[in-house]
Amino acid sequence: MYVKRIYLKNYRNIKEADLSFDSSLNLFIGANAQGKTNILESIYLLGTGTSHRTNRDINLIHWGKDYFYIKSSIIKRNREITISFGYDGSKKEIKVDNNPIHRISDLMGYVNVVIFSPEDLQLVKGGPIFRRRFLNLDISQVNPYYFHNLQKYNQVVKQRNLLLKEIREGKKVVDLLFVWNQQLTDLGSRLIKKRLEVVEKIDILARLVHRRITDGRENLKLKYESSIGEISNQMTREEIKEIFENRLKKEQENEISRGVSLFGPHRDDLELTVNGINVRQFGSQGQQRTTALALKIAELEYMKSEMGEYPILLLDDVFSELDAVRKSQLLEVIRDKIQTFITSTDLDSLEEINGKYRLFYINDGQVVQKKGSE
Ligand SMILES: Nc1ncnc2c1ncn2[C@@H]1O[C@H](COP(=O)(O)OP(=O)(O)O)[C@@H](O)[C@H]1O
Ligand SMILES: [Mg+2]
Repeated sequence: MYVKRIYLKNYRNIKEADLSFDSSLNLFIGANAQGKTNILESIYLLGTGTSHRTNRDINLIHWGKDYFYIKSSIIKRNREITISFGYDGSKKEIKVDNNPIHRISDLMGYVNVVIFSPEDLQLVKGGPIFRRRFLNLDISQVNPYYFHNLQKYNQVVKQRNLLLKEIREGKKVVDLLFVWNQQLTDLGSRLIKKRLEVVEKIDILARLVHRRITDGRENLKLKYESSIGEISNQMTREEIKEIFENRLKKEQENEISRGVSLFGPHRDDLELTVNGINVRQFGSQGQQRTTALALKIAELEYMKSEMGEYPILLLDDVFSELDAVRKSQLLEVIRDKIQTFITSTDLDSLEEINGKYRLFYINDGQVVQKKGSE
């Protein structure tokens, strides 16, 4: 899968651009704040329907203009598809081959993207929310049904939190919780079951990659930690649901007095250990970086195994930050297989890159192609 061409109009600081890409490597060079990330963001938008930087589409419109428009040609399984995305401040219009898409979940699955930026170190260093987001985005892109359940689940958590507060204040009776518990445990156990399956796969993939980067010296392990209690991959969805229900029964007073839903996939985490040591708490900076890189590469391999095709990879300001070993490791994974967009402030830090690529310079939202075929 690759982006063959993209046309941008009034997108962020890019007034207009019409770019054709290499199916393998594309490099964007420019000083800070010139629009490199904006270009990557527009590609990300095509895959997921939302920006990775803002959830307010209004921010994407060039200041002083009243709409933005993106149109792209994607090659997927040797077929060309056209995806367009327009927003005028009130209405979002997404089309695939000229057919309107009404729900974001229907867009997901056409183009898969993986983005890796400096903030992704948070995946290892940050709080559980970053690891939940990693899992949710990964699974949603290859499984629209999961995304659908996740949206419903989040809605249920919100409603249930409201009810818990009202019960605490004596405005509602405890019995009303029953219905919400049913929905919470039903949807929640589906999400957890799926996450367990996916973590099992990513665990294996990430460990292999990690071993290669560390010359076999380090052993990375991923473990899904659930707030509902001890669970395992061998359990059925029904068994997980039962554990969840029991937890809610036991903790009912606690949840009411706190006025929030304390248990379920929205409170779960992914434990990362290297040689048995928690990388988040005790890993060195280098170990944390390597772990983040291994997770990202595992994400690519996981998507490939689910979709039959590699996703598009966006490397925003990270390639130049890697040391020589990690750079070559990464290049080995992507070369001739994965269409990759790399941004950097200078060309020197990309000297390891050879073979076919297209090079673009970007200055104040103006993109100029400097090198590459055609
Ligand atoms: N809606 C917008 N309209 C015009 N300019 C914008 C808009 N949103 C962001 N910008 C500008 O885009 C630039 C940042 O672009 P970015 O892609 O993040 O830069 P970088 O090249 O460092 O990755 C900043 O100068 C910012 O002011
Ligand atoms: Mg940037």
